[in-house]
Amino acid sequence: MAVHSLAVLSLLCALTFLVVEPHQAFGSSHGSFGPIGNTVIAPPAGLCAAAVVVHGYKCQEFEVRTDDGYILSMQRIPQGRAGGSAKNKQPVLLQHGVLVDGMTWLLTSPDESLALMLADSGFDVWIANTRGTRFSRQHVTYAPTNPEYWNWTWDELVTNDLPAVIGFVSSQTGQKIHYVGHSLGTLTALASFSEGKQVENVKSAVLLSPIAYLSHMTTALGVAASKAFVGEITTMFGLAEFNPKEKPVADFLKALCAEPGVDCYDLLTAITGKNCCLNASTVEPFLKNEPQSTATKNLVHLAQTVRDGILTKYDYGNVNYNEEHYGKSKPPAYNLSNIPHNLPLFLSYGGQDALSDVRDVQTLLDSLKFHDLDKLNVQYIKDYAHADFIMGVTAKDVVYNQVIEFFRRQYH
Ligand SMILES: *[C@@H]1O[C@H](CO)[C@@H](O)[C@H](O)[C@H]1NC(C)=O
Ligand SMILES: *[C@@H]1O[C@H](CO)[C@@H](O)[C@H](O)[C@H]1NC(C)=O
Ligand SMILES: *[C@@H]1O[C@H](CO)[C@@H](O)[C@H](O)[C@H]1NC(C)=O
Repeated sequence: MAVHSLAVLSLLCALTFLVVEPHQAFGSSHGSFGPIGNTVIAPPAGLCAAAVVVHGYKCQEFEVRTDDGYILSMQRIPQGRAGGSAKNKQPVLLQHGVLVDGMTWLLTSPDESLALMLADSGFDVWIANTRGTRFSRQHVTYAPTNPEYWNWTWDELVTNDLPAVIGFVSSQTGQKIHYVGHSLGTLTALASFSEGKQVENVKSAVLLSPIAYLSHMTTALGVAASKAFVGEITTMFGLAEFNPKEKPVADFLKALCAEPGVDCYDLLTAITGKNCCLNASTVEPFLKNEPQSTATKNLVHLAQTVRDGILTKYDYGNVNYNEEHYGKSKPPAYNLSNIPHNLPLFLSYGGQDALSDVRDVQTLLDSLKFHDLDKLNVQYIKDYAHADFIMGVTAKDVVYNQVIEFFRRQYH
């Protein structure tokens, strides 16, 4: 039976929060961020002040507007701790996954964080924050309290967020970018490249814990979530914010945890797989900063991806609506075999990853079987699960140094 693994990822964040800090409000000592996002609490000066400048790096905040009116915050770390010129550096864009934000790249020490390692290695580092997360909650027309604000899925991240952030970085730097995605940040890039979009602005792409096909996962909590997600949750929440920190969603998650056979105690392991290499010093800031909101509709779309075993645009679940939006009774597919075969790719996946399951990664690799051999780098890490790729204490040695080497090989 198909299990809705990304729905489950959301539960990971949410339930971990409920279990670990049941009575504490997130960041309650901070002021609210931005004129619209009044329900979301964030450090007033943004991610730069919260997590970059404190380590002795320069950091700049930017706002980028998408074609559909969302205002996204981006951070730039133009140079390493040693300083030096910011000119002629290779730009790298970091795109986080679902239900987290750009902070996920900055949870470890400077010597262990991919973002800060890249800056110290001479790259010009840019961090994106997806619509709906705490630093990216403004829109030209809608407040996050409007249902219209949450009327999107990862299709819109492909058609709007990604072009906005990639276009912004390449226009600011006058260069093609190197892309790094984790989890959902890999799916949006793969989907975009498969349509031939953004490819002209991307020099290479690193995909950590790649998510594309999502049919394999086997945890009790996953099964419970899978039953709930495509069905109930839409009628329960409608077109709305999926905020694991607020009551309706939290109650839904608690109910799921009460189902027979569902053990919400060791959630991190139950949901992401057995991460080999997490340290308490990282898990604690993770829980302080995450989870972040996403659109319920986005999670429904992800659950459809699991159910159907193929990658398509959002299914309106109704022939007439699909006809209206796509001119067809079924939503169009993303065909990953159409990713340009000469685009340099670096995929890194883990043997213990319950979300990016080895069998699903194999399906992804099958769709890339015509890729130019010298442009496809695949790394398999037997002990790694989903969170090890962003927070693992060994990620520096096992993954990030290889990523930096890969980028250096793309110079010519
Ligand atoms: C949501 O967006 C779709 C287009 O993707 C549109 O047809 C629909 O009317 C929108 N719904 C609301 C409530 O804004
Ligand atoms: C692991 O966490 C402890 C404190 O929680 C810290 O002292 C130590 O430096 C951390 N180790 C690594 C490799 O980050
Ligand atoms: C995807 O594209 C490849 C190559 O362009 C083609 O051979 C294949 O039939 C397509 N798959 C589907 C399901 O359309």
